[in-house]
Order: sequence, then C-alpha cells, then structure tokens
Amino acid sequence: MCLETKLFHRDTWAEVNLDHIYENISSMKTRLGTGVSLFAVVKANAYGHGDCEVAKTALDAGADFLCVAFLDEALALRKKGITAPILVLGVSRPESAALAAEQRISVTAFDESWLKSAKAHLEPGQVLHVHVKVDSGMGRIGIRDETELVNVESLLKREACFNFQGIFTHFATADELNTDYYEEQLAVFKRMLTALTGRPEYIHAANSAASLRFADPVWNAVRMGISMYGLTPSMGMKPILPFPLRQAISLKSKLVAVKQLVKGESVSYGATYTAKANEWIGTLPIGYADGWIRKLQGQEVLIDGIRVPIVGRICMDQCMIKLPTSFPVGTEVTLIGNDGAESITVDEIAAKLETINYEITCMIGARVPRLYIKGNQQKHVRNFILE
Ligand SMILES: Cc1ncc(COP(=O)(O)O)c(C=O)c1O
Repeated sequence: MCLETKLFHRDTWAEVNLDHIYENISSMKTRLGTGVSLFAVVKANAYGHGDCEVAKTALDAGADFLCVAFLDEALALRKKGITAPILVLGVSRPESAALAAEQRISVTAFDESWLKSAKAHLEPGQVLHVHVKVDSGMGRIGIRDETELVNVESLLKREACFNFQGIFTHFATADELNTDYYEEQLAVFKRMLTALTGRPEYIHAANSAASLRFADPVWNAVRMGISMYGLTPSMGMKPILPFPLRQAISLKSKLVAVKQLVKGESVSYGATYTAKANEWIGTLPIGYADGWIRKLQGQEVLIDGIRVPIVGRICMDQCMIKLPTSFPVGTEVTLIGNDGAESITVDEIAAKLETINYEITCMIGARVPRLYIKGNQQKHVRNFILE
C-alpha cells in the first residue's frame, strides 16, 4: 500500500476499511428486511474509526439515521456536511434546544422537567425532534414510570414546538447467552408503550447484540454500533453470529530503529527486560499516548508474517520489539490486523487487557492518523492533530 506520507509525519497509522463497514451494514440490512430502519451509531468518533467517514459509508449502505452521544458530536457531523437525520442518545442541555432544532438534530428526552425547560429555550416557530428514553432496566437515563410517560406524551402532543419522533430503550444484557434479563426489559418496554395513546414514527430498542439475535415486532428500528465495525458484541456471541462480521480497523507502524543488544543489556524504563543472549531489538513509534498502553508489554505484533513480542516497558511515544534477526528500518509492523497467514484481532488485544473490544478501538488516540480504504484502495487520510 502506498502511504499518503505528506499527510502525516510519523510512521504509525490506523487503517479503516470502509468496504468492511459497508458490508457489515448490508448484511444487517438483509437480516432486518424491509420495514425496520437502521440507525448507525457513530458516537465517540465512530468508536475510534472516524466520524464523518463512517457516517458517509453507513448512509451509502442504507442507514436511515445516525446516533451520537453528545450534541457536540452531532454538530461536528453537520459541520462536515452531513445532512442526514442525527439523534443525540445522551443528555443534552435544555439550553441547547434552539441550536439542536436549528440544526435539525433530534434529542433524547428522559423526563418531563427536561422538556419543560427545553421548551423555554426554543425560539418561536422552532420545532425540536424528540425521542423519549424509557429506562427498562439499564438504570441510566430514562423514564421508569407510566404516569410520567403519559404526561410526557401529552406535553409532546400539546406543544407545537415538539415533534414526538421516537421512543426507545437500551438493553443491558442482550449480549449474554442467558436471556432472562433481556426478556424482562423487553416486557417493561412493551408495558410502557401500551400506556401511550399513539405511536411515534420510530420505536427502537435493539443494539447490535439484540438485532443480531432477536427480532421483535415492537421495534421498527435498530441501533447498530459495534457490529458495524465488524466486532462481536461479546465473546459469548461469537459462535452464534448470524452472518460474518468483518473487522474494519488495523493498526500499523514501522521500525524506526534496529539495534543489537549484547547479552545482559536492558530495554526501556525500569530496565524490566534484559537480553538473554545477543538480541535484535526494533523500536516502533507508538506508545501509551496513542492508546497502546503499558499493560500491552508482552503483547505480540506481526513482522514479515511472524509474531514477535513487545519487550520492556511501553513508553509514551515508543515501544520496543524483540526481532528474530535484523530487519531494515522502515519494515512494516502490524499491531492489529493481518500479515501473511497471521492475524491479531481487536478481540485478542481486548483479551490481553481483560476488557471489551469496544474499549480497544475507542482507545486508539487522536494522534494516530486514520487511513481510509475504499474499493480496495487508499482513499484518504485523516490526521486529527493537523485538522
Ligand atoms: C443507547 C445506545 N444505543 C445503541 C448503542 C450501540 O450499541 P452496540 O455498539 O452494542 O451496537 C449504544 C452503545 O453504547 C448505546 O449507548
């Protein structure tokens, strides 16, 4: 691959394969069939993949709505020319209601007082699109009480400044093989819906896990996050995925220095690694400030199709790997992704760090440029720190 080297000046980058994202969405759309809308979740800079590139790909693949966590993320998409409907899933300030309405950004209402306060901040003639959040068992934000939901519905219908566009809930355990809690939450959501006198345009409950496993006539839209990026919602779900997911992200670097240590010489802070014989050590320009955190000491990377370990402590901007032999400076190294027959998945890194794959892609820092692949070709580079 020919790197667009003028757009970044350090040989560490993440490759984001937009074709894979497109394919994951297409597979989900086929599974959903007609009549169920797809909301693409692009919060947190599209789980670290890059917000507008993923948003555009998702819309090309047929997504109907975009979801973010915060109003600023929605505004950033608008600034980059995204005109599609966007829903802010988290809490927006009532004071921001006029801005959201002006930008045609849908917001989440999670109690009656928020709506009353938002109304006071809207300009005459403005209409705010609202999705009402029901807390069916997540214990986060949302209405739990049917009477309050009825009051919210009548307020939304009464006031011309509001468009009751959607109602939704979020599952806490849809990725777990035991479905008891999922079923309880679904029952609560259905009971809450029966309290309504009408139905808004969108009723959505399923995240990736629920939409990959279940279908329910109660919802007419799903919110697809992690699976859009080609990652399983949980390890337990891996064997029961209804279609193959294609991981979109890879993380690459290049050797910037290669040296031979003599037996007994040490590597990095704390001198925690000492050469047991004369050993070849390569330096990579990536460190914990890029999200490649110190707990990844010992993790393997790929060079020339083989696995080699990170040795010594990971520094803020660099880390060292043990090479079987001398390699030329400039040799490509894969931290996440494929090299020959070998592969390091996001899930492998998550397992090493005893966490979930979501956290790994979100962790890859803004200092790492993203290189986008589309139609099997490098399309463009996004360098967040030079933006
Ligand atoms: C409210 C809400 N909906 C949908 C999603 C997407 O979930 P997933 O990435 O598991 O598909 C999230 C993710 O955190 C969320 O918070």
